[in-house]
Amino acid sequence: MSEKINMNDDWKFFLGDLPPHSNTEGWGGAKAGGFSFGATARTLNDTRWRTVNLPHDFVSEGLYSQKANTGINMTDIPEMESMDSRHGAGGYLEGGIAWYRKKFSANGLGNKRVYIHFDGIYRNSTIYLNHYIIGIHEGGYDSFYYDITDFLEFENENILAVRVDSNGREGWWYEGGGIYRNVYLEVAENIAVSPYGIRVIATPSLVDKTAEIDIDVEILNKNIRDVEFTVKSSILDENDNIVAEVFTNGKAALYESTIVSAHVNLNNCILWDIERPYLYKVKTEIFENDILCDTTLTEFGIREMKFDAENGFYLNGNHVKIKGLCCHQDHAGVGIAEDESIMEYRLMQMKSMGMNAYRSAHSMPVGIAKLCDKLGILLFAETRRMSTCDNDLKALRMLVKMCRNSPSVFLWGIGNEEVFVQDTPQALRQTITMRTEVRKLDPTRPVTSAVVCWNGVERFNNARSYEYVTKELDVMGFNYCQTAWEDYHERMPHQPIIVTENSSNSGTRGCYSTDESLGLYCINDPENKEKCKSGQKAVRKNVAEESWAYIAERDYISGVFIWTGMDYRGEPTPLKWPGVYSQFGIFDYCGFPKDNYYYYKSWWQEDDVLHISPHWNLDCEYTDVYVYSNFEEIELFVNKKSIGKKAMHKNMYLIWKNVKYEPGEVSAIGYRNGVEIKIKYVKTTGVPYKLEAELYKKSIKTNETAIINVKIMDTNGNVVPTADNLIKFEINGGTLLGTGNGNPGDHDSEKVPQRRAFGGMCQVLVKSMKEKIMEISIKSARLKPCRCQIKVK
Ligand code: GAL
Repeated sequence: MSEKINMNDDWKFFLGDLPPHSNTEGWGGAKAGGFSFGATARTLNDTRWRTVNLPHDFVSEGLYSQKANTGINMTDIPEMESMDSRHGAGGYLEGGIAWYRKKFSANGLGNKRVYIHFDGIYRNSTIYLNHYIIGIHEGGYDSFYYDITDFLEFENENILAVRVDSNGREGWWYEGGGIYRNVYLEVAENIAVSPYGIRVIATPSLVDKTAEIDIDVEILNKNIRDVEFTVKSSILDENDNIVAEVFTNGKAALYESTIVSAHVNLNNCILWDIERPYLYKVKTEIFENDILCDTTLTEFGIREMKFDAENGFYLNGNHVKIKGLCCHQDHAGVGIAEDESIMEYRLMQMKSMGMNAYRSAHSMPVGIAKLCDKLGILLFAETRRMSTCDNDLKALRMLVKMCRNSPSVFLWGIGNEEVFVQDTPQALRQTITMRTEVRKLDPTRPVTSAVVCWNGVERFNNARSYEYVTKELDVMGFNYCQTAWEDYHERMPHQPIIVTENSSNSGTRGCYSTDESLGLYCINDPENKEKCKSGQKAVRKNVAEESWAYIAERDYISGVFIWTGMDYRGEPTPLKWPGVYSQFGIFDYCGFPKDNYYYYKSWWQEDDVLHISPHWNLDCEYTDVYVYSNFEEIELFVNKKSIGKKAMHKNMYLIWKNVKYEPGEVSAIGYRNGVEIKIKYVKTTGVPYKLEAELYKKSIKTNETAIINVKIMDTNGNVVPTADNLIKFEINGGTLLGTGNGNPGDHDSEKVPQRRAFGGMCQVLVKSMKEKIMEISIKSARLKPCRCQIKVK
C-alpha cells in the first residue's frame, strides 16, 4: 500500500560550505557512488552540527545588515523600485550555502518503490544519498521528487545529504534559504499510481444535482514483467461512505506507465462552494489477479466555475466578485518556513475581512491549495517564471499536477509583469506553449498572466502594444493600469478580465506620521514627499478605496487581488534601510490588521463595521479622523461633542479633516435608516499595566504551531497603541519558532525568547512537542504578567 513517511524531524544542519563544493568534484564527478567524502560521507561525524526540524529557513536566522543583498548587479528598472538592490529588495539578510544531513532506515522496504519528495528548497539544491548524487534542482519555488529505490540501503542506515545554495535570486523580495517545506518518503508497490498521477474532473449539472466524474489514473509498472490489472475507483463522501464505484481494466508493459480512464455518475451530489467547501475523495485500488497491490486517496470537489466576459465570475451559477489578496510566503519569526498551522492562521485572518480568493504570488502554492480547499477560498495558482525552457515547463507541469484536483484552484498564472518580453513574438509563442501544456494536464481551468502597462522604460495607459500576445490568454490579467481596463474590454469584448494586482499602499500598522529614520511609513501623511528623501518618491500606486469602488461597479471586471494581504520581508518601498520589510500588506508581518483592513471589511462582507483611525494617544494639535464603516450615516464626536454627521457612500470611507485633538475619547455612531445602531469609542489610554495573550487555537496537535498574540493593556483593558515594552517568553513543553511585532524597522533577532512590542502588540510562535500541555509565561518589567496553556492532542 502506498504510505507517506514524514521526514521533517532530526536533520543535522551546518551553515557554510564544505566539500563537495560542486556536483562534479572529486571521484563523485567521475565514478558512480563516488561522493564518499566531505559532507556527503557516511563516516562524517556530524554530531556537533545543529539539530533542526523542517520546515527551516536559515536566512531568517541571520541578522539584518545594510551591506547585505548588495550582490545584485542588475540595471535598475525605472519605477520598479523593488528591482533595485539598493532598496533592500531581499530584506537586508544575507543568503548563503548550507548543508543538511539526515540518517534514516529503510528496513523492510526492500521490495517496494521509494520516492523522496521535497516540497520546497530555496534554492539550487544538490541531493546525495549513500554517496550517490540523486538529483540537482535549481528552482526555489517548485516541489520535486526522486525515485530513490535503486540507491537505498535496506540493512544499513541511509545517509541523505543536501547542499543548498541560497545565493542568487529568483525574485525581488525576501526569498529565504533552506529546506523550507515538508520532506517525505512515498513508499509504493511496484505497480502503483505514479506520484501525482490521478486527475479527477467533476462536471456537475446544477439543475438535477448530478455530476459526471472522470477519473484518469496514471499507473506505473516497475515490475520486471508486463502486468494486467484492474483499477477500482470508489467515490467517498465527507463521512467516508462509498457513494459510487467503477472498475476498469488495463495493461502496463514492464517499466512503463499507462493511463486508465474511468467514468462514473453521481446523484445527489453536494457542491464545493466558498460558503460550504464540501470535499469528496476518490479511493483508487489496483488489483493484479484479484490481489490488492496499491491504494491511494485523492481529495476533490464538485463545482461549476465560469468566467463571463461581460458579467464576471460565476461559481455554481452564482455571481461571485473576486475579492482577492496576493501574498508572498513568509511570516514573522519563521521567514519562508511557514508550516500549515501558520498558513491556516494567515488565511483565516484574511478571510475574516471578506477575502474570498488568494493569489500565491509569485510562486507555486505548496500547502496552501489543500487549506483553500478546506476553508472555501478560491485560489489563483501561479508558476514562478514565464518561460518555456525545460526547467520552467517542468515547474509549470508540477504546479498543475500537484494542484489540479483542488476544487479551490480557479486560475492558472503563467507570468507576472514580464516587462522585458511582453510585447514580443517570443512571448506570443511562449504563452501558447504554456497554455497548451496546462490544458493537456488540466483542460478545465483558464490560464491568465499578470501583465502591466509599461515595458521597463515607459508607461502606457493602454495595453495595445501587447494585446496580440494577451489575446491568447483565457482571462486577461492586469497588474494596476486602471486606465487600460475599459479600453481593453472594448477592444476584446469576448475576453474576461481580472485585476491580478492592485493598490500597493497600506503603510505601517498604527503609524500616523512617516519617519524614514525608523523605517515607518504612513500612507496618509501629507508630507511624505519631503519625508521620504533617501528612498524613492512616495508611491501611492492606486488609492485602494477609489480603485475598489471602480472595480465593484463594473461587472466585466471579475474582481481584484490586492497587493498584498500581509507584509513580507524585502521591498520596503518607498523607504529603504532601516526599513527591512514591505508595508503593502493590509495586515502586518504578524497578521495584525492595519486600518484599511476595516475599509475592505466594510465592503467585502456583510457584518457591521465601525472603525476609527487614528488611535487617541496622539501628540499633535490637529488630526484627520478616518472612519471605515458600512453604516449609512456616521456621526463623529470628540469628548462627547459632535464634530458632524456624514453620509457614507458605498465602497467609500469618511474623513473629518483637521479635528482638534484633545485627550479623552473619539467616538462614532453608525446609523441605518436614521436609527442609531452601533457606537464605537477610541480612548486615550492609561500607561501600560498588564499583558494579555490571545490564542489562535486553544488546542493543537503534536508538531503544529501555536500562534500567540500578546497585547499590552492599561488598567481599563484598552490596548496601549504606543506601547513598545520588551516582552519575555518562558516556554515549557514546546519549542520557540520565532517572534514578531510588525515593526518594519525592527532589526532584533526573531529567534530569541523575547521581543519588544510595537503598537502595543507582538507575537510568539511555538511548536508543540510530545507533551500534552504547553505552557507559555509572558512577562515584562513592571507589567502584570500572564500565562497561557495550550492542549496538545
Ligand atoms: C508589482 C510586482 C510585485 C511587487 C509590487 C510592489 O509590480 O508584481 O511583485 O513588487 O509591484 O508594489
